[in-house]
Amino acid sequence: MSTSESARRVWRWFTLRENCAEDNTDLFARLATESPVVHMPGLWVVSRHDLVTKLSNHPAFTMVNPEFPAEVREANPDFTAFFARSMSVRAPEDHRRLRGVLAREFTGRAVERLRERITGIVDGLLAPLRDGAPFDFVTEIAVPLPSLVTAALLDLPEEDWPQIGVWARGLLAQLGKSFPGSAQHADPISVAGFRALRAYVAETVDARHGDGKDVVSQLNQAADAGLMSRDEVIDMVLLLFMTGVDTVTSGLTNALTCLLTRPGDWRRVQEDPARWAGPAWDESIRLLTPVTFGARVAAQDAHWGPLRFAAGDVVLLSFAAANLDPRRFEDPLTFRWDRNHSASLSFGHGAYFCLGAGLGGLQAELTLRRLAETGVTLTVPPGDLSWRPELTFNSPAELPVRLGRSPAAEVA
Ligand code: HEM
Repeated sequence: MSTSESARRVWRWFTLRENCAEDNTDLFARLATESPVVHMPGLWVVSRHDLVTKLSNHPAFTMVNPEFPAEVREANPDFTAFFARSMSVRAPEDHRRLRGVLAREFTGRAVERLRERITGIVDGLLAPLRDGAPFDFVTEIAVPLPSLVTAALLDLPEEDWPQIGVWARGLLAQLGKSFPGSAQHADPISVAGFRALRAYVAETVDARHGDGKDVVSQLNQAADAGLMSRDEVIDMVLLLFMTGVDTVTSGLTNALTCLLTRPGDWRRVQEDPARWAGPAWDESIRLLTPVTFGARVAAQDAHWGPLRFAAGDVVLLSFAAANLDPRRFEDPLTFRWDRNHSASLSFGHGAYFCLGAGLGGLQAELTLRRLAETGVTLTVPPGDLSWRPELTFNSPAELPVRLGRSPAAEVA
């Protein structure tokens, strides 16, 4: 594929959504090497590792606050208003203030406190699947796990978890539907549903005062100290359902896909799950990066070497391509156990670096450990997997597997 062909392919991918329901690893690898900067009127797609890193943390570029189409705004105005107020798209000084408060809830120690509860949730989800019947890993594990973990993180009562799962799926479907061309994999949350979710969160926030150690109480204490408003506490809690659910779904699915299609590497995890599940996660989501792009807007005219950005230009930072840039990762398409992942862009970089990277990693580590102990096999050839038809997520839409060790069924 020539340089202009790969640039054309990315253009068709964005404008016509052509080929987006596929494993786009090949496209990302080619973007990094052949078309590291694609420029269309008002829009840049940047794929070189050093440029993505630089622009992710450049003060002239801020997170895009998307202008939703009129029909989306009219269909669910409460949702779009909430999105426009959420931390990541706020002005840089508000973003820094709110991020500073939230970051305290995601320290290594805070996340580690959830280890036992997450193990219990993983075991609870796996228990009915132990009869060895085939099932879809995405539906049964990767979708419910992160919303249950978010509910545990927020210390919400277990009897509410099924309803929370329904709201979370609807919220994500609404988010997906709000961008033109995105796919639908669940019913978007209705106006009434969003109001009910917000009322539930508001009630929880009001009930958690005092010196509690849970995330909601801590956010309330930040509000009492004048660091944020009550409405910002509510929006922050809602934001966790938007940022911490679909990302983990895609990440877990990619990690398992990556490992089950590389039997030698999966065997290593099975030999010593406690030691290898973590490193396997890091390398799997570098190779198959779940969140493909971050979006920024140039707040002012800016230049970087020969690149001239005009104020208002949108810049898509291709984390998935930059993670396959051979200038940064030697032999980038090979799964290697000896890599240093500090430069991996799976969780972004700089000012907007993912606050939940540790929590996502803990969910993955505990799930992969259990699956390695139990045994799990893919029940279809990798080429038959269908992929999420979305631009921002690159992961299988379904992952048919069965639990137990049955070498005959293993896909070599
Ligand atoms: C495998 C799992 C995950 C992946 C791959 C992932 C990926 C990302 C990426 C790439 C960004 C940066 C986007 C950009 O720079 O444009 C981000 C931001 C963020 N993530 Fe995650 N994420 C994951 C899990 C989580 C979890 C579990 C939570 C919380 C419960 C979370 C909360 C956030 C928040 C709050 C931000 C915004 C940070 C800010 O605006 O400063 N993420 N994530």
